[in-house]
Amino acid sequence: MIEVGNFSRSAESTEAAKGIESAAVDHCRKRLDRLWARGRDVLGCELAIMGGAMTWVSERNLVSAISNAGGFGVIASGSMSPELLSAEIAAVRALTERPFGVNLITLNPHLHDLIEVCAHHRVSHVVLAGGLPSADAMRRIKSRDARVFCFASALGFARKLVRMGADAIVIEGNEAGGHIGPVSTGVLAQEILPHLSDVPIFVAGGIGRGEAILAYLEMGAAGVQLGTRFVCARESIAHPRFKQAFIRAAARDAVPSLQLDPRFPVIPVRALANPATERFLAVQREVIERCLCGELSQRAAQLEIEHFWAGALRRAVIDGDIEAGSLMAGQSVGFVIREQTAAEILQELVIQALTVLSMRSQPEEQTTYL
Ligand SMILES: Cc1cc2nc3c(=O)[nH]c(=O)nc-3n(C[C@H](O)[C@H](O)[C@H](O)COP(=O)(O)O)c2cc1C
Repeated sequence: MIEVGNFSRSAESTEAAKGIESAAVDHCRKRLDRLWARGRDVLGCELAIMGGAMTWVSERNLVSAISNAGGFGVIASGSMSPELLSAEIAAVRALTERPFGVNLITLNPHLHDLIEVCAHHRVSHVVLAGGLPSADAMRRIKSRDARVFCFASALGFARKLVRMGADAIVIEGNEAGGHIGPVSTGVLAQEILPHLSDVPIFVAGGIGRGEAILAYLEMGAAGVQLGTRFVCARESIAHPRFKQAFIRAAARDAVPSLQLDPRFPVIPVRALANPATERFLAVQREVIERCLCGELSQRAAQLEIEHFWAGALRRAVIDGDIEAGSLMAGQSVGFVIREQTAAEILQELVIQALTVLSMRSQPEEQTTYL
């Protein structure tokens, strides 16, 4: 296993890092550690890099691999009953002694039970996704001494979540894979980071390299969250065909779902374009026509559109059906070029961040791009 936590020594031994002198590496490493100190502190791990929860992908193997490599793995409970989540938490615990979190979707009808499962297992960090959480859900999680992380899509929203007791905020831009908001990561970061320092803020969406991580840390982020980059981790159980689709794809292939008519809203999801994307447009067209000629009620038409993607992520991730399934992916998919272990991915990101720092402390001719 590659020791990311002990990066300075392992980096010296790699061909890629030979341009960085050991003293410079130590200096840069200390600088990076200062930059993400708040993130490391709230997560309790070595690298303030969260492996964003991905339904069907973020299970015991990937989560424990990320945490064991010094990052922070997060279980995605999106596809799990309370019983399955309980088993998954126990399985992660058996694979790592390091901290990890659980992602809960606020709209899940079993949210109450899922919170109880987290409390029962003394999960230290709960990430609440999918809209404004209820004050009751926040209170119940915090009363069991867990830290609550919440997603915010605007400054006012972030401030409200802090008032409600959020221990950290994740701001996720439109470049991300999966469900997305309308604003880019860069703009959200500028909107929120300079004005909110009460709690640590993690930036997500479109991050594929360490240079971007460093940039957001220097803007005031406490850490980052990456999803797409971890899909092709060797430890990820995603089907080989799902991984191949990621490896082949370019940034421009990860597109948001299209809505044909504002009267029939479509939940915006970023995914790799595939035959299902085309089919979704055809289905929308057909359903809207049936509604307009009175064959379907507005509500029935809306439900048909919403049901189109039901089960589609599982079909792609688990069954490998990359034609009919949903290939949720962020624009950072362009940086996914091969299968690597989670430790290698994390090490690469750290080396890239350290390289920028080293460039600033060395004369130009001694600088090596890694
Ligand atoms: C396949 C896939 C599934 C995802 N599922 C979830 C989920 O269940 N819950 C959630 O909060 N975010 C989910 N996300 C978002 C990630 O947690 C993460 O925030 C996002 O991927 C970060 O942007 P990036 O993909 O550009 O790295 C998913 C993303 C992908 C690519």
